[in-house]
Amino acid sequence: MNADALATEHAARLGRMDPLLPSSDPFAGRGNEAEILIAEDGESWASGVPFRSEVAADSSDSLWRALVEYRLIVRLAGPHPGRPLTEILTQWDEYLRRVAIPGEWDTAAVVPRPSRDTAGSAELLRQGFSATRVLAVRPADRLANPGPPAEPGVRIRPAEPGDLGTAVELFTELQQYDSQFGMVTLRANAGDLLTSDLESQLDRTDPTVWIAELYGRPLGLLRIQYPAEASWVAPYVSAERVGYLSTLHVAEAARSSGVGSALAAHAHQLFDEADVDAVLLHHALASPRSTPFWYSRGYRPLWTYWYRRPATL
Ligand SMILES: CC(C)(COP(=O)(O)OP(=O)(O)OC[C@H]1O[C@@H](n2cnc3c(N)ncnc32)[C@H](O)[C@@H]1OP(=O)(O)O)[C@@H](O)C(=O)NCCC(=O)NCCS
Repeated sequence: MNADALATEHAARLGRMDPLLPSSDPFAGRGNEAEILIAEDGESWASGVPFRSEVAADSSDSLWRALVEYRLIVRLAGPHPGRPLTEILTQWDEYLRRVAIPGEWDTAAVVPRPSRDTAGSAELLRQGFSATRVLAVRPADRLANPGPPAEPGVRIRPAEPGDLGTAVELFTELQQYDSQFGMVTLRANAGDLLTSDLESQLDRTDPTVWIAELYGRPLGLLRIQYPAEASWVAPYVSAERVGYLSTLHVAEAARSSGVGSALAAHAHQLFDEADVDAVLLHHALASPRSTPFWYSRGYRPLWTYWYRRPATL
């Protein structure tokens, strides 16, 4: 089977597995298709296109990832693609040993997989990868558990320029919490990066950053992207109008009392008003807070990102 036939088989496979996956491959054109690795085992096939993604240490993206990510775009076909996938991962590993600095924490090897195409999971684990990050989706008409009734003193309001310090503080807490799960890197310049990232968002006429106050104390933060700003993530889902929920954080002392649910319900109301068909968000699979929270609010996994960090030991 050549690379084109394999891509067609792979697309048909995904169409059968998950109606919310897009019909065109969101990773198409990312790597150099001339460097494709292909392996077969009887009726089953796997291919992998490696590519490298790097962000600058002074970019706001650096807050949420390793500076250098080696990614592999995997396509599978046939009934038992695990074995050919192992061969692809082994070849990629040989390549990574040549190009990545062993033990360098600011590197990661990343394999994005459609969450419901579970073939190859054991093989990824064997090669030292773990399912770490999920892009989750909530179709607009999805019923969700409303969660606990909000505390009577909770008020949600748009963040204003005067909230910059509070917003940076809440974001910093979120970074510290999320850094436990391995994707977020705590950086010395995080305060400056968060400040400049948020500054531009706080005086918009259509607010995208919201604060939850409990009896006048700001304890929760929500940040969203409407479809015009979420076009970077829209190709990952089969939906016309896509919103992105970038941040939800509740101060530790206020958790488990309905503040997060009130902010999530607020976000969904804003997205409904903007005629959004599906909302996407990223979360750390190992988080005992975010994973159960999102899945009881109507989200479910769409893409699962398998990580090995550092990329090579
Ligand atoms: C995830 C997070 C935003 C949730 O906010 P929260 O204010 O704690 O959430 P809520 O209180 O609204 O909802 C959770 C509570 O709902 C209640 N609840 C859950 N299911 C319920 C049900 N079926 N019926 C009634 N109540 C229910 C529980 O009391 C639950 O608290 P518990 O998990 O401690 O038992 C918050 O924990 C947080 O900021 N975590 C750290 C950062 C983070 O992970 N953010 C998400 C990043 S993607």
